[in-house]
Amino acid sequence: MARIRLEGVSKQFGTAQVVREVDLDIADGEFMVLLGPSGCGKSTLLRLIAGLESPSSGRILLGENDITRTPPRQRDVAMVFQSYALYPHLTVAKNIGFPLRARRRSKDEIRERITTVASALGLQDHLDRRPAQLSGGQRQRVALARAMVRDPGAFLMDEPLSNLDAALRSATRTELIDLHHRLRSTFLYVTHDQVEAMTMATRIALLNNGTIEQVGTPTELYDTPRSTFVAAFLGAPPMNLFDATVIERAGKLHLVADCVDAPLGLFAGSAIGPQKVTAGIRPERIRLNGTDVQLRGVVTASENLGSEEILHVTVGGTVIRVRAPRPVAAQVGDAAALSVSPEDIQLFDSGTGRRLVWHVPHEHGASPRDASLSVA
Ligand SMILES: Nc1ncnc2c1ncn2[C@@H]1O[C@H](COP(=O)(O)OP(=O)(O)OP(=O)(O)O)[C@@H](O)[C@H]1O
Ligand SMILES: [Mg+2]
Repeated sequence: MARIRLEGVSKQFGTAQVVREVDLDIADGEFMVLLGPSGCGKSTLLRLIAGLESPSSGRILLGENDITRTPPRQRDVAMVFQSYALYPHLTVAKNIGFPLRARRRSKDEIRERITTVASALGLQDHLDRRPAQLSGGQRQRVALARAMVRDPGAFLMDEPLSNLDAALRSATRTELIDLHHRLRSTFLYVTHDQVEAMTMATRIALLNNGTIEQVGTPTELYDTPRSTFVAAFLGAPPMNLFDATVIERAGKLHLVADCVDAPLGLFAGSAIGPQKVTAGIRPERIRLNGTDVQLRGVVTASENLGSEEILHVTVGGTVIRVRAPRPVAAQVGDAAALSVSPEDIQLFDSGTGRRLVWHVPHEHGASPRDASLSVA
């Protein structure tokens, strides 16, 4: 069993609180990605699970065992570092076999495991080389092989692809997904690259300043972000966020801001007065020059990505980014009339940034007119 559970885990370095009361439950066999900006505590969290740091408070469980105070070597986890951390003076075979030699396994067993793991990762022809004679991608595979050789319950990987070039990164991503399918062990993978997270994770835990903002499938985080932080972290370009007000007009709710007037597709409840919100719309959900117009602005810049174009449209005081297929019938300086469907408008609390949801009561006698907004 390699379920990993963190219960109220905190870590302080001096006066700096780096990890704050983190609860996380990683299922056996899951590919969990820890995502977040630089300095948010990802590596520290991984090192706490590996036993390279010990928590200031809280518990860490592996399967049913409390491993909070277990020495690193006795934890059934293997760590792969960004820097590979290979021994330069040892051959590939010796590097891969190192964890088994350290555990005094028999020579025969070590030789057999090295052969198995090396061929699983396509390293069988490089066993006599030293790390300096390998490419970055091959070194990364040796580091993986060294982690695999003990057949650990869980793999902890800290930005393992960040030293590779774009093409190799993409290829290795696919290899890692495939490896996860074959091994069926638990993967906990740290990255600040959202493409890695979206493509590899069964679930993502998004970390912000030592706390977990949201845990869920890539689709959940992308489509229903729990906060403006999550909304702004995922997507390239990220979700457009702007200040707006929800008002009632002729019994229906609208989102209004400078040069913005968009129906929300809901009847107004009697209790709703004007309410300040932060509105969010994904760039790919905005249509250029549609029939109904909800946002009016001027094209102030455009980025040609080859397959599509990102238009910067200044609407009132805000720049709204629109992702449009090429060729785009708009140039810098043109007026832009933008359309958005009610279901593509997301609302967040303007103070806390928390997602707002509509509650439409279904009790006896209630009507959709009683819809109200509250924090998700
Ligand atoms: N041993 C340490 N002593 C003091 N502060 C530390 C120590 N290790 C990490 N920190 C601090 O803790 C914070 C979180 O660091 P951590 O390495 O976990 O971030 P990260 O999310 O992995 O960032 P990155 O994406 O840049 O790798 C940082 O502010 C860092 O400076
Ligand atoms: Mg790190």
